[in-house]
Amino acid sequence: MPSVLRTQRLFLRPWRADDGVRLHPVLTANHAYLSPWIPAHIADPASQPLLAQRLAAFGADFAAAREWRYAMLTSDATSVLGELSLFPRDAKARVPYQQADRVELGYWLREDATGRGLVTEAVREAVRVVAMLPQFVHAEIRCDAGNEASAAIPERLGFVLAELYSEAGPPEGVELQRWTLRLRPDAAAGTCAAP
Ligand SMILES: CC(C)(COP(=O)(O)OP(=O)(O)OC[C@H]1O[C@@H](n2cnc3c(N)ncnc32)[C@H](O)[C@@H]1OP(=O)(O)O)[C@@H](O)C(=O)NCCC(=O)NCCS
Repeated sequence: MPSVLRTQRLFLRPWRADDGVRLHPVLTANHAYLSPWIPAHIADPASQPLLAQRLAAFGADFAAAREWRYAMLTSDATSVLGELSLFPRDAKARVPYQQADRVELGYWLREDATGRGLVTEAVREAVRVVAMLPQFVHAEIRCDAGNEASAAIPERLGFVLAELYSEAGPPEGVELQRWTLRLRPDAAAGTCAAP
């Protein structure tokens, strides 16, 4: 994936350790908003040294094409808005890039920037770029069935709801949705895979 994505209102690039200074207040202010929906190791406002370590690791993963976590910044690159992440995977799990046939997208946005279509704009651009990589046949978005704001994004962008499923193990009873988008007209629908 390219190390910079630009849209009309956004500038996206890999996280850097020194982003921690700007990210920490955003995570602190948005913890109650984010924590029901995204993993603690992303949502928790860790101490500055730990946050710097976390962000440096994200940057290293990006450089090694293990996964691509973009800091989502305002177009002038001054303010942290959230994150857009892409994970190579197959039907069952996240896998190394060389074994992947699809990319899974994830995102979060600070609450005071919601309602303006920013994540839709970011995902649209990421999908456009991913579609140029021959490795990937599908794009996927997986979200809690109760997360209406999240599910609205793939629906708005023409993804199809391929599956409702529950993950083995806790938390029990959480229903998840798998949204899928065929990146090339000749690709199979990708609806028969187990999560
Ligand atoms: C999920 C989340 C990213 C959605 O944020 P969002 O602001 O609703 O999403 P978008 O940035 O795409 O904006 C869509 C909203 O902007 C509005 N909008 C305004 N201009 C728009 C435009 N040009 N294009 C698209 N939508 C636009 C839409 O109508 C929609 O608002 P509505 O929900 O009131 O109808 C955000 O709620 C979040 O971070 N939640 C917590 C973390 C999370 O759930 N992450 C996903 C885990 S699967």
